[in-house]
Amino acid sequence: MQKLIIDGKKILSGSINISGSKNSALPILAATILNNHTTIKNIPFVNDILTMLNLLRFIGLKYKISKKKNLVEVINSNTNINTVAPYKLVKTMRAGILVLGPLLAKYRRAKVSLPGGCAIGTRPVDLHLFALKKLGAKIKIKNGYIFASAINGLRGTRFKFPTISVGATENTILAAVQAKGVTIIDNCAVEPEIKDLINFLKKLGVNIKIKGRQITIKKIIKEKKISHKIICDRIELGTYLICGALTAKKLKLKNVDSDLVKKEIKTLKKMGVKLNVNKNFIEVFKSINIKKINIKTEPYPGFPSDLQAQIMILMTQAKGLSKIKENIFENRFMHVPELKRMGAKIEIRNNIAYISGPCYLNGAEVMATDLRASVSLVLAALIADKRTKINRIYHLDRGYQDLEKKLIKCNARIKRI
Ligand code: EPZ
Repeated sequence: MQKLIIDGKKILSGSINISGSKNSALPILAATILNNHTTIKNIPFVNDILTMLNLLRFIGLKYKISKKKNLVEVINSNTNINTVAPYKLVKTMRAGILVLGPLLAKYRRAKVSLPGGCAIGTRPVDLHLFALKKLGAKIKIKNGYIFASAINGLRGTRFKFPTISVGATENTILAAVQAKGVTIIDNCAVEPEIKDLINFLKKLGVNIKIKGRQITIKKIIKEKKISHKIICDRIELGTYLICGALTAKKLKLKNVDSDLVKKEIKTLKKMGVKLNVNKNFIEVFKSINIKKINIKTEPYPGFPSDLQAQIMILMTQAKGLSKIKENIFENRFMHVPELKRMGAKIEIRNNIAYISGPCYLNGAEVMATDLRASVSLVLAALIADKRTKINRIYHLDRGYQDLEKKLIKCNARIKRI
């Protein structure tokens, strides 16, 4: 397994191009099942995207990647379609469950592996199945698979999600676009990635509106040659903003939409981080006196769970006791034991992490456990003294395109072995 070797305490400076959003590209790739010819631009070539493309090929779609132009062309000629998402593909990339909605909508049946849990939690899919049943699907669970069918097609309905779920909202939208009549869903997730999916579907003629947490969908869909540019990855952007606040004389983050990170900007400014915010680029500077802060993770537009591990590193450098309450996932503090081995002073009680600082971190051999925990170990290594070795960095490659290349270009000392 590959490792990253990082020599800390280098002052970074330069500019970084932020890639397209992995969490927007995944549902939009699933949505290409509904269309015949789709070009997706600004796609991040990370492992989860490649796994989703393999899944689409397994189902019977064809795709052509152009790494130079950062785009992928997906063709669904509707021949030899296999409405199955096998365990071997879904177990490594849970978002594979997102093909369930479009397969059901277009082919009226699907056999999709239950994704199973991961390091951060059990990751159930009950809300996905609850919603598809509301749309008239027959659902059976057998041998670790979801067997879904709608022999007379799905039908529009009105219902409310009991709790907010990004994936369940996406799956439901992708199913409802072919349901007869009107579908009105309340208490939806409204992350920017969901709005990007909605903008994509509108290009297919889908009549879809979002008002507050309510989404209304009227069945109209015309297959046609369309192209769509994925929004920037706000979690990658947030990660590098925190990186700059920890290490940089000046870091300029380009190809961004700063409207997507309003909450993160507000939080960093409250912590005393110096930022020069523009619509399409943000400059961030290493800040000397970082202030402590209390944060709770929430659905958008709250502070994202996907930046919890990263902001914790900044908190280790803040004066006083900071707090993070993780409200989205039940086990998302896996990075904490590794950070404590680097000298961080963190205690956890009832899903709240208490971080006291400023604290001097020293290099150590550590282990990555999940995507965002692994990038927090990279941030810690960049400010720790001497050398840090990070194991199991395949987690990183799932969601960060060219991470070490982007950082080395800004004077970081990182080597992959
Ligand atoms: C999406 O996961 C993201 N993944 C996650 O990012 C992100 O952390 C999460 O949303 C929350 O924002 C993608 O978009 C591919 P949820 P998702 O359904 O859809 C519970 C990353 O690092 N729940 O909003 O799986 C669930 O257990 C990843 O890029 C149910 O109980 O998240 C969790 O506690 C990690 N039943 C909460 O809801 C369900 O049927 C929120 O989960 C579904 C979810």
